[in-house]
Amino acid sequence: MNDSPLAALRQAIPGLHLKTDPADLEHYGRDWTRRWTPAPLAIALPGDIAQVQAIVRWANAAGVALVPSGGRTGLSGGAVAARGELVVSLERMNRVLGFDAVDRHLVVQPGIALEAVHEAAAAHGLAYPVDFGARGSCSIGGNIATNAGGIRVIRYGNTREWIAGLKLVTGAGELLDLNRGLVKNSSGYDLRHLAIGSEGTLGIVVEATLKLAEPPPPAQTMLLALPAFDVLMRVFAEFRARLGLQAFEFLTERGLRHVLAHGGSNPFDTVYPYYVVTEFDAADEVQQAAGLAAFEACSEQGWILDGAIAQSQAQAQQLWRLREGITEAVARYRPYKNDVAVRVSAMPQFLAEAQRLLGEAYPQFEVVWFGHIGDGNLHINVLQPDEVDDAEFMAQCGHVTGLLAELLQRHGGSISAEHGIGLVKKAHLGSTRGDAEIAAMRGIRRALDPNGVMNPGKLFD
Ligand code: FAD
Ligand code: MLT
Ligand code: ZN
Repeated sequence: MNDSPLAALRQAIPGLHLKTDPADLEHYGRDWTRRWTPAPLAIALPGDIAQVQAIVRWANAAGVALVPSGGRTGLSGGAVAARGELVVSLERMNRVLGFDAVDRHLVVQPGIALEAVHEAAAAHGLAYPVDFGARGSCSIGGNIATNAGGIRVIRYGNTREWIAGLKLVTGAGELLDLNRGLVKNSSGYDLRHLAIGSEGTLGIVVEATLKLAEPPPPAQTMLLALPAFDVLMRVFAEFRARLGLQAFEFLTERGLRHVLAHGGSNPFDTVYPYYVVTEFDAADEVQQAAGLAAFEACSEQGWILDGAIAQSQAQAQQLWRLREGITEAVARYRPYKNDVAVRVSAMPQFLAEAQRLLGEAYPQFEVVWFGHIGDGNLHINVLQPDEVDDAEFMAQCGHVTGLLAELLQRHGGSISAEHGIGLVKKAHLGSTRGDAEIAAMRGIRRALDPNGVMNPGKLFD
C-alpha cells in the first residue's frame, strides 16, 4: 500500500480517525452482496462536516476515489470498496441534532441508524414511517442515498417523501444546504431530490431534516395463505378497496421454508404455495370487522385458503418474521437479487410473464420470490448452488437479468425499485433509463463531482 496519500490526509486533517487494519479494510470494504473482494486504501471516520469537506478536498488533490459508507446493508454493491478507494464511514456522525414540534422535523446526522430515528420520533409522540428489516443496522445517510423503500411504502411512500432538507458535501467539496425544511420552495431545481437516490455519486449527505408523521392507528396483522400466484393481485384489490392498508407483503413457500429452517414458526399445520403478510387499520370494532369481512370475501372466492390473525404484538412479530426473515435466511447462498418494479396495474400480466421466463431460464437454480407486491415491487432472489462457481453463476444471472430487463422495458418497469443500481445492475441501467436521460445524469454528475472522486464505477461508468 502506498502510504503517502494517507500521510497527506493525516497532515491535512489532524485528529481524523483512520483505520487501516486488514480486518477493518475487509469489514468496511463490503456490503451485503459479499460478491467483491474488499480492497480499500483505508477507512476515514469523520466526526463533523468540516472533516468531511476536508476529506473530499484531499481526495480531489490526491486523485483518490471515495466510497461513502453507512451501515453497509446495501444489496447492490454501492458501498463496496474494491479498488483502493478511501471509505468514508459516517458511523461517528450518528446523533440527533434537533427537533421542532411546530414543523414536526427531526434533524439528524447521516450515520444514525433507522431504528434510532424511529425511537427519537416516538419519544416526541410522532413517527418516522419508513421501515424495513435492516432498521437496526442501516443508516439514514444510506437510506437517502438509495431512496430506500420498505414495508410501509404502500401508505407512506419512499424515503424521498420524508426528507424536508439535507446538507450535501459535493464531490467538489462544496457544502450545499438544500431546502432547509421548507414546505414550499419553488425557486428552481430541487437539488435535494437529485441527492436522494444518487448512491453516493454526487456527494456525501452530512445532515438530514426528516419529516415526522402522526403515529399510524393501531393495526391488525394477518398472514394469508393463497393457492396460486394469479389470485395475489385480486386479494390485494379486495383488501385495498375495503381496508386502510398499512402493509401488503408477499412471499412464497420457498421463502417460508428458508425462514422456518432459521427459527421462524409456522402458524399453520401445513405449508401453502403463496402467502401475504398484511397490516391494516384496526382502531375499533368496525375496522376489525372490515378486516374479517375482506378475509371472508376472498375465502369464498377460493382466493384465500387459510389465515392467521396476530392476537398480540409478539404474535405480530412472529408473522412479520416470516416475511422479513427471508433476506437473512437465504444470505448464505449469496443470492443474485433482482429488485424490479412495474406499475401496480401492470403487475398481474408482468407476474405471469416473469414467472414463465424465469421458470425456463433458471431450471437449475432455486429462485425465491417475495416483495412489496402492493407497490408493484418484486424481489426475485436466485440462490447460488454450492457446486456452481461465482463466475459461472454471475454470468448466468447477468444473462437472465438481461431477459428480465427486456420484459420490464416492455412493461415500462424499472430494474431497481429500491436497492439501487450500484455495481450489480450497472449493465442494465439502459433498460430503465433512455440514452438522453443517462447523458443528462452524466452531466449532473460532472457538475457536482468534476474530478470523479465520488463512488466511481457505481451506477454508471
Ligand atoms: P450502505 O449500504 O452503507 O450504502 C448504500 C449506498 O449509499 C452506497 O452507494 C453508499 O455509497 C451510499 N451512502 C451511504 N451513506 C451515504 C451518505 N451519508 N452520503 C452519500 N451516500 C451514502 N432496502 C429497501 O429499500 N427496502 C427494504 O425493505 C430493505 N430491506 C432490507 C432488509 C435487510 C435484512 C437488508 C440487509 C437490507 C435491506 N434493504 C432494504 C437494503 C438496505 O438496507 C438499504 O439499501 C439501505 O438504505 C442501505 O443503508 P446503509 O446505511 O446500510 O447504506
Ligand atoms: C426486503 O424487502 O426484504 C428487502 O428489500 C431485502 C431483500 O430484498 O432481500
Ligand atoms: Zn424490499
